[in-house]
Amino acid sequence: MDNLITPHGGRLIDLLVDEDRVAEIREVSRDWPSVDLGPRALCNLELLINGGYSPLEGFMGSADHEAVCSGMHLADGTLWPLPVTLDVADEVAKGLSEGDPLALRDPEGVMLAVLRVSEVWEPDRDAEVQALFGTNDRSHPGVAQHLHRATGWSVAGPVEGIQSPVHHDYRELRLTPRELRRNFTRLGWRRVMAFQTHRTIHRAEQAMMVEAARDADANLLIHSVVGLSQPGDADHYTRIRCYQALMPHYPKFMARLNLLPMAPRGGGPREAVLQAIVHKNYGCTHFMVDFDGAGSVLETTGAPAYGADEVAGIFAEHAEELGVEFIKTREMVYLEDRKRFFPADEVAEDRRVLRISADEVRRRLDDGREIPDWYTYPAVARELHHTHPTRGVQGFTVFFTGLSGSGKSTIANALRVKLLEIGGRGVTLLDGDLVRANLSSELGFSKEHRDLNIRRIGFVAAEITRAGGVAICAPIAPYSVVRREVREMVVPCGGFVLVHVSTPLEVCEARDRKGMYAKARAGIIKEFTGISDPYEAPTDADVVIDTSGVAPAEATREVLLFLERQGYLSARDAG
Ligand code: PPS
Repeated sequence: MDNLITPHGGRLIDLLVDEDRVAEIREVSRDWPSVDLGPRALCNLELLINGGYSPLEGFMGSADHEAVCSGMHLADGTLWPLPVTLDVADEVAKGLSEGDPLALRDPEGVMLAVLRVSEVWEPDRDAEVQALFGTNDRSHPGVAQHLHRATGWSVAGPVEGIQSPVHHDYRELRLTPRELRRNFTRLGWRRVMAFQTHRTIHRAEQAMMVEAARDADANLLIHSVVGLSQPGDADHYTRIRCYQALMPHYPKFMARLNLLPMAPRGGGPREAVLQAIVHKNYGCTHFMVDFDGAGSVLETTGAPAYGADEVAGIFAEHAEELGVEFIKTREMVYLEDRKRFFPADEVAEDRRVLRISADEVRRRLDDGREIPDWYTYPAVARELHHTHPTRGVQGFTVFFTGLSGSGKSTIANALRVKLLEIGGRGVTLLDGDLVRANLSSELGFSKEHRDLNIRRIGFVAAEITRAGGVAICAPIAPYSVVRREVREMVVPCGGFVLVHVSTPLEVCEARDRKGMYAKARAGIIKEFTGISDPYEAPTDADVVIDTSGVAPAEATREVLLFLERQGYLSARDAG
């Protein structure tokens, strides 16, 4: 018996079965159908197994999905804001019937759980994105990505957990809800404020959460989301080393650190409610989310898709059922003469305050400049400098996109030669034709195959970038969602520059160096980009070059100048 907040639904439900049952399952499971889970499904499974998703006992079926999407409750009336479903490929779905066991495996094939199929069904994706984002506007990046990711079918049913997904890193910081609750009880903590974050914490955020925890008369759980890293995130090893460097600077006995295996959904206020429920299960009474950075923005307007007031509103509406108090983040500013942080809204307008934005921190790291002590503890700054080399020595990817015949390959080749002349980094050219011949020879030109081709290029480019090299990619890459995916793959590894070679279709067609446009017009080549297949011009290009009236050398110079301005070539110049 503890004095902690009651888990959601009344009881902590973890789904691990006992050793005898594990042995029994292993014995009979040899011929069972199975699926290898991707990173998002693995996060959901881990939270099901460890009780973070109490009172769920498995993946949802259509009745719960419908009730959750339309009314924010499970079919049995329990508050639940978002679907937790298991999406599977069509071939898997077709082979399953009610009552069948389905083994759930990690990417290495280790069996983690068994799902007893209660339903194989097709979720209403429109209802799903409405629930997640309050809109089905395709220009909302979360909507576009969600629809892009979702497969047609879901499998529902109760889950028996065999083991939690294996993590080799920071095991001592991966306490489950049951373990963390035990720990809180031992420490005598009853009121606990969770601060959920996926970013590095600096002194301003620390001051803010300490003040909020004191106001709430609560202890503090810093819950670092490590499900999936997000674009712009420091890799989670760096982040956690930074938290570890920060922890001794909290007031004594106030705070502890834990890792949360939860995948962000890029969503709106309902996602905050789901996070609060998970924290309630982990034993927290108060919830603060560093969501300003996690919130998605509308592509059309650049405005945030949701704000703190909306989150506060939805919490207020469901306060009683939720039982967790939402605490808004506050902007903090540093008063130099007082040598400490204050909430910005409590400081007179004419006072001299110091602020540094996250972008400025990144710029300073890129340029190797100092991050001042008032902003972050020196041990944290050291970690950041250590793992974030300056742009001059970082790897980077230059990703060209444009129609066939637009001049991508010519500029990419010239750029490769210039970068080799400058020296210092290995340079790899992943030209469209080259990749098609070596990496993607089995692929055609359907949307599905093109996306797969681009993802492969993105994967290789990210690895080259991570290793400090330069990847120059030059495929057509006609679809914006997958181009964005590539940017997200590469950014955590180093620099990413998108170059749109915007030469108009008429010019490309008039050049028709390979005679393909003529064949496409005659219908001999099907699905030809620009003729019988779409090309979505990027709105997020860093450099745009129309080669109609520009010589290749000039076009290459434009890219080099951009790289130079961004600091990617500076270490070489210095030498
Ligand atoms: S994609 O869309 O990014 O996967 O395409 P990519 O890998 O760059 O391949 C484009 C090259 O393949 C030739 N080709 C076609 N292009 C477009 N549509 C169709 N249907 C097609 N069939 C063959 C074409 O020569 C492209 O080469 P580039 O260098 O762009 O001219």
